[in-house]
Amino acid sequence: MELKRIVLGVTGGVAAYKAAELARLLVKDGLDVQGVMSEAARHFVGAATFQAITGHPVFTDLWDERVDNGMAHIDLTRGADAILVAPAAADFLAKLVHGRADDLLSTLCLARDCPLLVAPAMNRRMWEAPATQRNIAQLAADGVTVLGPDSGEQACGEIGFGRMLEPFDLLDALEARFQPKRLTGLKVLITAGPTFEAIDAVRGITNPSSGKMGYAVARAAIEAGAEVTLISGRVCLAPPREARFLPVVSAQDMLQAVESVVDTADIFIAVAAVADYYVLNPSEQKIKKDAHILTLELAPNPDILASISARPKPPFCVGFAAESENLEEYAELKRRRKHLPLIVANDVKESVGSDTVRLILLDEAGHHVLEKADKRTQARKLVAHIAELYNTRYQ
Ligand code: C5P
Repeated sequence: MELKRIVLGVTGGVAAYKAAELARLLVKDGLDVQGVMSEAARHFVGAATFQAITGHPVFTDLWDERVDNGMAHIDLTRGADAILVAPAAADFLAKLVHGRADDLLSTLCLARDCPLLVAPAMNRRMWEAPATQRNIAQLAADGVTVLGPDSGEQACGEIGFGRMLEPFDLLDALEARFQPKRLTGLKVLITAGPTFEAIDAVRGITNPSSGKMGYAVARAAIEAGAEVTLISGRVCLAPPREARFLPVVSAQDMLQAVESVVDTADIFIAVAAVADYYVLNPSEQKIKKDAHILTLELAPNPDILASISARPKPPFCVGFAAESENLEEYAELKRRRKHLPLIVANDVKESVGSDTVRLILLDEAGHHVLEKADKRTQARKLVAHIAELYNTRYQ
């Protein structure tokens, strides 16, 4: 489902000032945003701020005469694809649990026929209180999506859970929740990160791949409804909770892990930066320094992607080509050599370790440029493209 219109509810809390930034991001993202504030929220931030950002009058009162038929509690959510309450104060969450409807926002939530998302924000003791925890569990059981909270420094000076997620992360979580389920029922296998080829007990050959692109692709595939297995070299990222996660070190390990699960995969996306060579006879002990020249003997690693795509019945295989020159030409050659329906080209100088990237998708039909954007956005667009190609081929 595409998200077009949203009611942004703001309740009383210091984080209310961040809701103004959230409103700006939502509008910038192309959404029609209707602001609704609780009475308490108006002590923290002015309605005029939301009005100016969203271009709509902001409502607080159940009996507001600006709504034509006096049915503000129904009219404001008519045609809305979601209600997002950010920040959602402890008291407001308690109200939701009990179905109370004593102000406009709580009444809108009770009378809605669209999904409700809440972003709790409160002091850590209030968050940890058994009553709040019970309320959160109940809301989740009632089908409400709870976003956050985060942990960190709080306005009261304490440190702990209760901080509202940052506006950008809320926008991202909202988008994630509404991604079309293009890959439902499909198993997607993804490799990510660098490999590490041991030289001795402590040293090795690796590369600066951060794993950010591969992990973003894994996340996007999960959002699209796929069952994801993520095989990753050593990176500093937490794998998505919903993925089956297989950590590996070397290219040989990665090949073994891929072979152990690939039979059931419908789609294989090789994002990993696999070392082309490994060290023959690595030393079991740390090599001691001396005055001699040290020579390492390197042997070529197996090409994981090429070996999978050469199988008699391969999954739908997608490769990545990081190049430093002749980007499209080299990537297309790789696509043909490895017999891939799709390869994703990117400039290694811009992309490695970075949060943003420009991608060129090369397939049988030609090339499609995804202009520079953050990796999460690019991963979603890539998943949409893969789903389209996959569905044309197999359905
Ligand atoms: O290293 P190269 O540029 O050939 O990588 C292109 C694609 O092949 C990438 O998707 C990469 O993950 C995959 N690859 C692989 N095994 C290798 C080398 C590359 O799966 N040994």
